[in-house]
Amino acid sequence: MAQKKLALLGCGKMGGALVRGISSVASMQEQVNFLLYDVDVKKASALALEIGDRAALVEEVKQLAIADIYLVACKPQQFDNLAVTLGPSINHEALLISILAGTSVAKIMDTLAISKVVRAMPNTPALIGEGVTALFFTKAIQKNDRQLVWELFKTISNCYIFDKEEELNVITGFSGSGPAYFFEIARILSAEMIKMGIAAEVSREMIKYTMLGAAKLLAQSSESAETLRNNVTSPQGVTYEALEVFKNERSKNLEELFQSAMSAAYKRAGQLAS
Ligand SMILES: NC(=O)c1ccc[n+]([C@@H]2O[C@H](COP(=O)([O-])OP(=O)(O)OC[C@H]3O[C@@H](n4cnc5c(N)ncnc54)[C@H](OP(=O)(O)O)[C@@H]3O)[C@@H](O)[C@H]2O)c1
Repeated sequence: MAQKKLALLGCGKMGGALVRGISSVASMQEQVNFLLYDVDVKKASALALEIGDRAALVEEVKQLAIADIYLVACKPQQFDNLAVTLGPSINHEALLISILAGTSVAKIMDTLAISKVVRAMPNTPALIGEGVTALFFTKAIQKNDRQLVWELFKTISNCYIFDKEEELNVITGFSGSGPAYFFEIARILSAEMIKMGIAAEVSREMIKYTMLGAAKLLAQSSESAETLRNNVTSPQGVTYEALEVFKNERSKNLEELFQSAMSAAYKRAGQLAS
């Protein structure tokens, strides 16, 4: 099979993660090489250096006319500027993969006059090869290209295909933004632990590994999240008291909710100990 030229437009966090992931898999190395472009040449050049022989730094957009696949990975609000520069040089027969949040395939197809468009929504654990990606293919994309896109994203994530583009707008707030919710909970729990007198470093580590262990247990267990939660929750016990706060305190924000829950858990732990 002839090697495909994949042009990365935007060598930031997500674009860089994807190219690193693809280039780390032997079977992909035979299929794809890279053209790396960013408005910030230093970023594209650093990534090209890291990837080595199979990546070429591109400083002029017109050099991207030879690409078989475009991977658009700038910020959504930067797309209009990118389209102005890429438009005149684009290969209209190429496959275009967009990871831009909230940017419809119709907008991309109209702006760039290209029909083979894939919308993908990865998330930041893709940076360590543990992401989740939702994919939506437009009708013009043939089976072999669908397979290729699937394999590209498999290098950094678990992939799920959706038939309706609208579903990607739903999942963005769940898997796309999801890691931020976990990080916020980790932040609140460690801060609360520190406030309650535990050393900062120990607090951060213990919460980090509690979340990691719980996530692995959820991933590896055949039990539902609900059952796993119940397995930690004895009637009238410490966890029960904290969960009751989540259930009943409707007027508090997340931080206040966790503060009340941790204080209820602490109180119950003391009662049980005495
Ligand atoms: N981060 C997430 O959790 C996440 C999850 C799913 C999807 N996404 C999507 O992934 C995309 C990239 O996010 P990111 O976090 O990787 O952003 P990022 O780190 O800021 O990377 C974007 C890169 O594109 C460059 N750029 C800007 N305008 C350009 C242009 N006209 N041509 C070429 N490159 C250009 C930026 O340069 P400058 O920095 O100089 O502007 C930057 O290096 C976004 O559209 C976002 O919606 C992100």
